[in-house]
Amino acid sequence: MEFKNIQAIVFDAYGTLLDISSIDQLLKELFGDKANDIGSLWRKKQLEYTWLRTLMGRYVHFDTVTLDALKFACRYNGVDLNEKMAETLMQAYDELSIFEDVSPALRKLMARYRLAVLSNANQKMLENSLKHNKVHSLFEQIISVEEALHFKPKPVVYRMAEQQLDLKRFEILFISSNTWDVAGAKSFGLKVVWGNRFNGQMEELSFEPDLIVADLEELAAHLILKEND
Ligand code: LAC
Repeated sequence: MEFKNIQAIVFDAYGTLLDISSIDQLLKELFGDKANDIGSLWRKKQLEYTWLRTLMGRYVHFDTVTLDALKFACRYNGVDLNEKMAETLMQAYDELSIFEDVSPALRKLMARYRLAVLSNANQKMLENSLKHNKVHSLFEQIISVEEALHFKPKPVVYRMAEQQLDLKRFEILFISSNTWDVAGAKSFGLKVVWGNRFNGQMEELSFEPDLIVADLEELAAHLILKEND
């Protein structure tokens, strides 16, 4: 892949920077042996609702989508979600941990590149999570879809990165661990890295990443080595 035009690296948040599994212990405490089923349906419905709401033209903030998905997952599994449980889980969602490689890699990359986040989350949610992990100040911009009133992978959302960074799409390297987000960003025309943290499988959507790495440390090593070539 050609890196010499890249000015900025733009990161997806959930699954790429933020480790969703850091909520698993709390799910176990609250839901016992139903924790896995509720957790996986929660995430699946959360994504589905972002796509459905985008198709319907009915945007609501990501924290509302997240809570609605949690309600569905609990109801489907025959669990009564009371207000206190919902509040505890939503608070935990604002305090997800980052993956171990994130902070050291960002510190290496920021010496050479402008760094930004582009996420489906609303601004408040994003800032809470990044501040909680003390990486907030490493990003020049934290871009939320909330201004676009649509979710990824709608092209208008990826365009926000171009507009807010005032760069051309070939000058932006976008990284996501979510395969559908990789395909969406690539379809829009960004340079795209798939952070394949979980040895996953790429989508059959005819858009392949420009580069695949296992984590952000590997991305930093790759970019810095290339520079020194
Ligand atoms: C985000 C989700 C899709 O941060 O990971 O946009």
